[in-house]
Amino acid sequence: MGRETVIVLDFGGQYNQLVARRVRECNVYCEIYSYRTDIGKIREMKPKGIILTGGPNSCYEEGAPTCTRELFELGIPVLGLCYGAQLMQHVLGGKVERAAVKEYGKTEVYVEPSSPLFQDIESPTVCWMSHNDYISAAAPGFSICARTDNCPVAAAENREKQLYAIQFHPEVLHTVKGKEILENFVYGVCRCSGDWRMDSFVEDSIRAIREKVGDGRVLCALSGGVDSSVAAVLLSKAVGKQLTCVFVDHGLLRKNEGDEVEAVFGPSGAYDLNFIRVNARQRYYKKLAGVEEPEAKRKIIGEEFIRVFEEEAKKIGAVDFLVQGTIYPDVVESGLGGESAVIKSHHNVGGLPDYVDFKEIIEPLRDLFKDEVRKVGLELGIPEYLVFRQPFPGPGLGVRIVGEVTEDKVRIVQDADAIYREEIAKAGLDQEIDQYFAALTNMRSVGVMGDERTYDYAVALRAVRTVDFMTAEAAEIPFAVLQRVMGRIINEVRGVNRVVYDLTSKPPGTIEFE
Ligand code: XMP
Repeated sequence: MGRETVIVLDFGGQYNQLVARRVRECNVYCEIYSYRTDIGKIREMKPKGIILTGGPNSCYEEGAPTCTRELFELGIPVLGLCYGAQLMQHVLGGKVERAAVKEYGKTEVYVEPSSPLFQDIESPTVCWMSHNDYISAAAPGFSICARTDNCPVAAAENREKQLYAIQFHPEVLHTVKGKEILENFVYGVCRCSGDWRMDSFVEDSIRAIREKVGDGRVLCALSGGVDSSVAAVLLSKAVGKQLTCVFVDHGLLRKNEGDEVEAVFGPSGAYDLNFIRVNARQRYYKKLAGVEEPEAKRKIIGEEFIRVFEEEAKKIGAVDFLVQGTIYPDVVESGLGGESAVIKSHHNVGGLPDYVDFKEIIEPLRDLFKDEVRKVGLELGIPEYLVFRQPFPGPGLGVRIVGEVTEDKVRIVQDADAIYREEIAKAGLDQEIDQYFAALTNMRSVGVMGDERTYDYAVALRAVRTVDFMTAEAAEIPFAVLQRVMGRIINEVRGVNRVVYDLTSKPPGTIEFE
């Protein structure tokens, strides 16, 4: 590990990625590993610090995730959080028990200001607690440096050995001084210098890509989404015209999106690269005609993409490198880092594509979280509307039209969605809602417009708040905004006579509407 790094050992807690992101927000590079990682490997990595995450288990139970004493004897500072804190105490001879009073939620914590962790933090401070077990006695050599009304050891420290255990979650925003506590750890205790910055990431990446690619040829499938756009620009800055980007317009993009992508990456755009836009919309509509079943539609859209891309790749001929927009959560969630291998059925990155003749994959964003990808995008001068684009599924509007996809239904959903997005932005809500879009229900019903009876479609508006897109809740949008959107859609979009707001959470619903 050349670069200054703090590692997170994951004990299966739901906040594992959040811990790493927060550390990186302190400008310190951070990677996630499973708690099973070999101690020899950890020693070799020479991390500046180690953070043990929370987890759902009780550390005193047989078979619970654990670690050895050795981990605390490496001379490397260790910070245990929640389960990690209990485990540290348990392994080093403290006592952990089931709590009579569970603590959950915002809690006032009385901290010892002389502790390196709590420097410049006023006591009491509000922290996020979520635990059933508690540390009833700190391990020998530790002193208590924080407590709550119900929890005698909210934090304990062994300054000499640089070991710190905290019961609450500094990574969660409800912990008001969480960032400061993590900063105190990475700077005050681990003595990090804070060299992880997106401007140096860009410079270093460009240099590394040039070295790797030499005079080779590079192919990139550009979707117009954040990850592939940032990857493409990074590559173009590094190797210019050696890069060819293929953008497949499957006719299931949002309104004007194809032209927007072309304006940025095409010949009149700002970047030096070969850009090929494949207009495949009619081809897709033909394949999708008469198909109603959601999975069948997804399959057709996916397979057709491969076919179109393959044809273009054949025209280009053999290339040396294929670019993929893999980002760090993809790496972690596919089980390569951390503990929680989340099975995602619809990952953008599957296995290696065997339909393109290439020698090696380049994944320039593999180490980055989404917010860091966005920072890199801004650093590279990519327009903000592309950088802050909300997630958009690979199969596009194909998963926002219930039932058969037709060109006319695509028009309806595109127009309705464009109005919805415009009004949400006007109301200043676009940064607050994690994902929102219009979908076309396959339902037609009777209405009246003017003096006429209509029999038209119902559009569903969806808006969710979510942290990880695995669970979500419907966002609360002011009624006046919803009414404005409804009025405009019904007046401006031919073929719609009803607008509904989808209140469903995930689970039981999904975010998309297919
Ligand atoms: P669901 O509908 O499964 O969506 O709750 C969760 C998140 O994943 C996005 N999504 C996709 N993204 N390819 C993608 O790249 C897909 O096939 C796909 N399907 C859903 C969805 O937009 C949401 O953010």
